[in-house]
Amino acid sequence: MQVTTTINETKELIKKWKKDGKSIGLVPTMGFLHEGHASLIQKCREENDIVVVSDFVNPTQFGPNEDLEAYPRDFERDSQLCERIGADLIFCPSPEEMYHDPHAFVSIDLLSETLCGKTRPIHFKGVCTVVSKLFNIVTPDRAYFGQKDAQQLAIIRKMVLDLNFDIEIIGCPIIREEDGLAKSSRNTYLNTQERSAALCLSRAVRTGQQIIQTGMDAEQVLAAMRAVIEAEPLAKIDYISMVDALTMQPVERVDRNVLVAMAVYIGKTRLIDNFSYEVS
Ligand code: PAJ
Repeated sequence: MQVTTTINETKELIKKWKKDGKSIGLVPTMGFLHEGHASLIQKCREENDIVVVSDFVNPTQFGPNEDLEAYPRDFERDSQLCERIGADLIFCPSPEEMYHDPHAFVSIDLLSETLCGKTRPIHFKGVCTVVSKLFNIVTPDRAYFGQKDAQQLAIIRKMVLDLNFDIEIIGCPIIREEDGLAKSSRNTYLNTQERSAALCLSRAVRTGQQIIQTGMDAEQVLAAMRAVIEAEPLAKIDYISMVDALTMQPVERVDRNVLVAMAVYIGKTRLIDNFSYEVS
């Protein structure tokens, strides 16, 4: 497995692989890898000749009062995990390598304004910009994203369509702890009490999944989910919402494919979870 830190050396390696006719898969990450990331890298390994993992805590997707500085980092452990799964390259550039001032940005506005975009207004602009850059640097045939960040996945799909990236976007299921908590690098912020309080998110997901079978009314589903979260004293709802799976705009009736998504503060830590529901 190789490690690169500059855009030029990365492009050189990719050029060589492409000349040899190899297919290339990319898994963009911000590092501190866990089994959620591992599942993406594993799938990428199964479907491509060359597996590239990017490991970059992207400053442009963090707001001024967010956790950019505190975001956990452990490159040694990340590279061991990538090596074990059989990745060919980890690209871990510095912020200076990726950005200069002033810098161009990519944004996919409508889909970025709801759900997480309300509380984190610049977040998806940063995500779209860094993912576009990674797509142009690595020029993968396929790129892998988790359903855990369902709005991010929808936005990336729209970006690829609108900007004509010749890349297949593969969505991968949410990987959870045994007790149901969705795996996240941010789970490390939780103390013991908060860790058990955090189970209200996956509990609310399960409740939502049951209620949605029984009727068409979005509010009925959301109210039942809200009640689960509100029963947990350490939890504070940022949002719980049902949106059209493609446009990310709120729906009142379950009459098309929808995403039911939430962000909840457990103490100071903001956690997300979601489920998708397809109307047959
Ligand atoms: P990061 O949070 O490191 O996540 C990298 C990828 O792993 C994302 O596609 C995310 O959805 C996926 N992932 C995280 N936890 C998961 C879980 N429990 N189950 C399945 N997949 C999971 O998302 C980002 O980084 C960044 O925004 C990035 C796309 C790299 C741009 O900077």
